[in-house]
Amino acid sequence: MQLERILQMHGFGTRKACRAMIRRERVALAGEICVDPFVEVPTDGLIFTVDGVDWPFCEFATIVLNKPAGYECSRKPKHHTGVLELLPVQLRERDVQPIGRLDEDTTGLLLITDDGQLNHQLSSGKRKVPKVYLAQTKHPLDAAQIEQLLAGVLLADEPAPIAAAGAEIVDDHQLRLTLTEGKYHQVKRMVAAVGNRVEALHREAVGEMQLPADLKPGEWRWLTAADYEKLGVLR
Ligand code: URA
Repeated sequence: MQLERILQMHGFGTRKACRAMIRRERVALAGEICVDPFVEVPTDGLIFTVDGVDWPFCEFATIVLNKPAGYECSRKPKHHTGVLELLPVQLRERDVQPIGRLDEDTTGLLLITDDGQLNHQLSSGKRKVPKVYLAQTKHPLDAAQIEQLLAGVLLADEPAPIAAAGAEIVDDHQLRLTLTEGKYHQVKRMVAAVGNRVEALHREAVGEMQLPADLKPGEWRWLTAADYEKLGVLR
């Protein structure tokens, strides 16, 4: 693929803007500056460098973010900064979107992609991809609450009770809850339905994929082949 086209598809601007960047010696291939915008570059396993930053060639951009509190996942954030503001402009230009939503005050694992099929696969209720949350609760937890969560609780506007796929007490005020749906405020509403209240919420995992331990709040990284495997999707 032509170098100028590669830059364009990775969100670096119009073809004309990308051509100018290349001619201004801002782009390197395998550590060598390349000033020919029309050079044909093999894309398999390609990593190109722009202004000293490495970019893996990817047909689709999919990343994992450690979402900090205080950021909204909605397309048009109203009250807080949008979570996409944490990403480089090149990713935003690719029109990446969160896979499912976390509340403004929820922290932890958030997948973001421009791959519509992947987004659908992971967020569709039919596939029942488990999401694991750690919730701090206002009141002490007890066995009766856990039993109710596992048996199913009726939420407003839902036709039938919804059961957690997993629920365990971590300590007096800490609950690990696994859900396979992605309903609005689901953890908070389910915990409220058993007479408790969520004070803080953190997503630890999606499928078998845990939030990478080395990602600090606000940091992101590209998804790896191992991550895709843990998510149970082929890419
Ligand atoms: N459930 C909630 O209540 N909030 C989230 O952010 C995610 C799941």
